[in-house]
Amino acid sequence: MSTAPRIDIDPVSFWQDPYPMLAKMRKEAPIAFVPQLGSTLLASRDDISISEKQIDVFSSHQPEGLMNKLMGHNMMRKDGEAHQVERRALFPAVSPRTVKAHWTAQFQAHADRIINGIEPGARIDFMRDFALPFSGECLKSITGLTNIGFAEMDAWSQGMIDGIANYAGDPAVEARCHAATAGIDVAIDDMLPVMQKNPDQSLLGVMLASGMPMQSVRANVKLAISGGQNEPRKAIAGTVWALLTHPDQFELVRRGDVSWLQAFEEYARWISPIGMSPRRIAKPWAIRDVSFETNERVFLMFGSANRDERHFDRADEFDVRRDVSKSVAFGAGPHFCAGAWASRAMIADVALPTVFARAKNLQIADDEPVRIGGWAFRGLLNLPVRWDA
Ligand code: HEM
Repeated sequence: MSTAPRIDIDPVSFWQDPYPMLAKMRKEAPIAFVPQLGSTLLASRDDISISEKQIDVFSSHQPEGLMNKLMGHNMMRKDGEAHQVERRALFPAVSPRTVKAHWTAQFQAHADRIINGIEPGARIDFMRDFALPFSGECLKSITGLTNIGFAEMDAWSQGMIDGIANYAGDPAVEARCHAATAGIDVAIDDMLPVMQKNPDQSLLGVMLASGMPMQSVRANVKLAISGGQNEPRKAIAGTVWALLTHPDQFELVRRGDVSWLQAFEEYARWISPIGMSPRRIAKPWAIRDVSFETNERVFLMFGSANRDERHFDRADEFDVRRDVSKSVAFGAGPHFCAGAWASRAMIADVALPTVFARAKNLQIADDEPVRIGGWAFRGLLNLPVRWDA
């Protein structure tokens, strides 16, 4: 265990709103051991940005980690060349060029189809009726698993996300995760003959074409599903909610003074969909007066880094005009999100402009509270809205 000062948290209130405790940590103990999480947390942006690049110390290789055990050994849990080989193999499917030339038009078709299916004037849950199916349909295209439904994509993603955060070892949560990974394996098997006949630009298509070993192909498809459904879903609904609850900010976007991309990036800074990423200490190390032991677990708190007062003025405020170039919402090192360009296209080029163009006078319904939660993965759980017929 590190020699970091100990800070106790109340897991329930930390899930409801982690930011006051994270601000306290940045001020009093930017490196703190939290017994309730069994880990040492890095809360300052500078420590996180430096440490994430020191892969010989802050290793992504966590053989005992829940992700490896439940989802197979994917590229996000590898370091150095072993990681880079797989990243190079799958990147052609999610590169800025492929996203622009190939996926954006498909994303637009998904958005139009889903909006056409919603009765104008109806009271809906924007998360359930737009953000979830849209993210699911886009992820089916990107992964190549077009043989499943968006609801399966969402359920499997949630099953794995819950499984890899299941530090309490709840058997029901683990069983749901196993069911998710088994479902994905069947869907991959079903697509193999199709891909062999007509290889495409999807993640599955390009990884198969690269000759990557099949167990790595499966593990990386599961990784993309675990990290590529919840986050866009939360970011789309979250940005819509943030704009509707900050009319002055929304006016800047509506007038074209600020882009949809800027609005999304500021939301992802303000409430980072991925608030934490774990690392294993690979050798004895020290940061200032804190010493770390080999193999201990460290949490890089991206959600805290994005509210670090040293880098963001009025950090707790949603401000679409702010400079977000220092945001680490997509990571801060070699594991920088491979889906970042696809996400920006899905959310800022397609979802936000389409929804606000088609949903006249979109408003939050006042017949149900908006619920938000989480610290490792954070975002809205629902978003009751209606718009004019
Ligand atoms: C708003 C949406 C998203 C956010 C905020 C997000 C955030 C992140 C973050 C913070 C990491 C880095 C984790 C680390 O350093 O340990 C990451 C990695 C990754 N993300 Fe995303 N993500 C998003 C969407 C997506 C999508 C749509 C896909 C799939 C197409 C995806 C695929 C990946 C992959 C494959 C990695 C691992 C990269 C590597 O290890 O080299 N993400 N994401």
